[in-house]
Amino acid sequence: MEILEYDQVDPKQVLALNLFSLGYALDAARVAVMREREARLAPFVALYGVHGGKVLGQVGVLETTVETASGPERFGALWAVATHPDAARQGIAEALVEEAHRRMRKRGLRWSFLTTSRSLVAHGLYLKAGYVDGADLGQAVAGDVANEESPADRGGEYTLVPGEEAQEPLIYALYQRSVSGRLGFIHRPPGFVQGAVAAGDLSWDELFLVHRDSEPVGYAVVSRRRGHACVRELRVLPGIERVDVLLAVRRAFQGPVLYQGACTQDELDGLRRAGFRQAAAGWGTLMVKNLAASTDRREAKALLGVSSGLLTFGGLDAT
Ligand SMILES: CC(C)(COP(=O)(O)OP(=O)(O)OC[C@H]1O[C@@H](n2cnc3c(N)ncnc32)[C@H](O)[C@@H]1OP(=O)(O)O)[C@@H](O)C(=O)NCCC(=O)NCCS
Repeated sequence: MEILEYDQVDPKQVLALNLFSLGYALDAARVAVMREREARLAPFVALYGVHGGKVLGQVGVLETTVETASGPERFGALWAVATHPDAARQGIAEALVEEAHRRMRKRGLRWSFLTTSRSLVAHGLYLKAGYVDGADLGQAVAGDVANEESPADRGGEYTLVPGEEAQEPLIYALYQRSVSGRLGFIHRPPGFVQGAVAAGDLSWDELFLVHRDSEPVGYAVVSRRRGHACVRELRVLPGIERVDVLLAVRRAFQGPVLYQGACTQDELDGLRRAGFRQAAAGWGTLMVKNLAASTDRREAKALLGVSSGLLTFGGLDAT
């Protein structure tokens, strides 16, 4: 098997592989937009396992700055890991992941991360490659029953206002203020919302500004799904109780809210206290690997701010 880069393989086969294995429409147009707008993308985009002219596997590679307990550090990351179902369990993904790590080390990187679900076989692939579960990506549901302990008017001071493209600078300013002093994924570049929209990862219909007394105090990424509203990301200014805003989301969408962004135990506990009785760690996991030595889970958690409760991670940081 040869290992090639995106520009060396047939984009139509890449699209087919992504549709088959991930349900992800990674076509040439999407790659072109990502190259222009996704600052984290590796110049070679992804690595491909090719045999007999057939594209059998893919590992996408990113690089980004993570604010660690010891200061800002460049991390590598894996995304869109996929093997063609006909070629499963032949070591293709393992070989591609290894090559991705080799390239990261060559760039002087010391850490790599990815997000996945502990319910996927891929979780075993990553454990074998030396990743550990760094943080649970928690989930919390506030429904009519789950929320009965919260005062009915809690969060009543917040309203959701549909966001629009012209507000990108405002959203960026809110993002920066909301992540100030925290650790983890706090270094998004200006224009990240437009970039995510251009790459098809977000739609403006899902973007809402959070107002208090007509003043913007945060933003939320909310999609209306069947029977519930799903909050992929919520950023609010320091001092504002995130849970109050989630209750405002529940009121605005008139139904159960599934919040996917809790990444520290403190946050899950706060959600439970506020009546999100269904708060749970969920299957989502942020995995990390030390590229230089075997990964020490405690060290990784301390580095990312999981232990100190300062880790910040949003739906738009997922790989
Ligand atoms: C996850 C995936 C990429 C693995 O690809 P692959 O080329 O078959 O994986 P490999 O043969 O390199 O397997 C390496 C290790 O991963 C684990 N693994 C892979 N497939 C597995 C399976 N079906 N069951 C259990 N463990 C599995 C094993 O530890 C394996 O090592 P082993 O064969 O020595 O036991 C592939 O199953 C896939 O495309 N799944 C659908 C897409 C997906 O979920 N991608 C990940 C998104 S985060």
